[in-house]
Amino acid sequence: MTNKASAPDPWGRNVLVEFEDGIAWVSMNRPEKKNAINVELAKEMAAVVDALEIDDRCGVMVLTGAGDAFSAGMDLKGYFQATDNLSEVERMRAYRINGTWQWRRLLHYPKPTIAMVNGWCFGGAFTPLCACDLAIAAEEATFGLSEINWGIIPAGIVSKAVAVLVRQREALYYVMTGETFNGTKAASMGLVNEAVPKARLRERTRELAKTLLTKNPSALRTAKVAFKMSSEMTWEQAADYLGAKSDQLQFVDPERGRVQGMKQFLDDKTYRPGLGAYRRPKDK
Ligand code: ACO
Repeated sequence: MTNKASAPDPWGRNVLVEFEDGIAWVSMNRPEKKNAINVELAKEMAAVVDALEIDDRCGVMVLTGAGDAFSAGMDLKGYFQATDNLSEVERMRAYRINGTWQWRRLLHYPKPTIAMVNGWCFGGAFTPLCACDLAIAAEEATFGLSEINWGIIPAGIVSKAVAVLVRQREALYYVMTGETFNGTKAASMGLVNEAVPKARLRERTRELAKTLLTKNPSALRTAKVAFKMSSEMTWEQAADYLGAKSDQLQFVDPERGRVQGMKQFLDDKTYRPGLGAYRRPKDK
C-alpha cells in the first residue's frame, strides 16, 4: 500500500526520488558537494528507504547521485567535524543513523536494489554500494578507498562490506594505496556487476530493473535475503534454513508462484522456466 495519503514525502532536499513504471530512482542530492553524506542527508535517506518499502510505486529501488558524483563518501565537515565535539552517545547516535540506511536497512531490503554508479565514488559511499543487491557503473566512474590518504581506515563498515565482494589482494591493494580505479576495473573485481559507457548507464540500469519487475516479488525478496544470510552459515545450518525459507515462501506468497509456475510449464505448456518468468496475475 502506498503511504502517500497519510504522510508527506520525506524526500526533496538532500534526496530526490523519481518514479517510473515501478522503478524508484533515488538520488543523493548535494551535487555541489559531490553528494558527500552529511547528517541531514543520512536522516533523509533513512526516511526515504523506510517510506519506499511500503510505497507501491517502488518495485525496484535504484540508488544513484545527482550531478557528476555517486557520492564522495562521508562529509568531512558535515559528519566528521560536525560530530567531533558531541558527547559519546550523541556521536554514536549520529553514526547509527548513517548505518541505518547505508546497510542495516539496505542489506536485506524487501525490494530489489541496484546501485547505479554515475561518477565519483569514495570511502563511505562503498557501504551502500556494496549493500545494494546489484550494481552497474559508468566505465568512466572513479572509485577510491581514499581513507588512507588522510590518515584514517575504511571504517563505518566499509572494510567488511568490500571484503564480502572483492578478493583480498585487490581489496587490500586499494585499501593500502588509496589509488583510484574506474568502472571497468570495478566490474573486473566484482565490486559491480558490469560497467557500461556513461551514455548508456541509465538505459542499462532501467533494462535490469525491468527484468526484476517481471519476477515474483515474494520469491525475489526471499531469494536475496536467503542468499546473503546463508553465506554466513555452515552447510548444515544453511540447508535447514533454506528449507525453512522455501516453505515460508509458499506460505506467504500471494501469487502462489510455485504452483503457477509448475502449472504453466507442466500442464498449460505456456512458458519455459529456463528462459523467463511465468505469467504473473498482473500480466493476465
Ligand atoms: N566531504 C566534504 N566535502 C566534500 C567532500 C567530502 N567527502 N567531497 C567533496 N567535497 C566538497 C569540496 O570540499 C568542495 O566544496 P567547496 O565548493 O565548498 O570547496 C565541493 O565538494 C566540490 O569538490 P571539489 O574538490 O572542488 O571537486 P573536484 O571535482 O575538484 O574533486 C573529488 C572531486 C575528487 C571527489 C574531491 O572533492 C575529493 O577528493 N573529495 C573527497 C573524496 C574522499 O576522499 N572521500 C572519502 C571521505 S572519507 C569517508 O568517506 C569515510
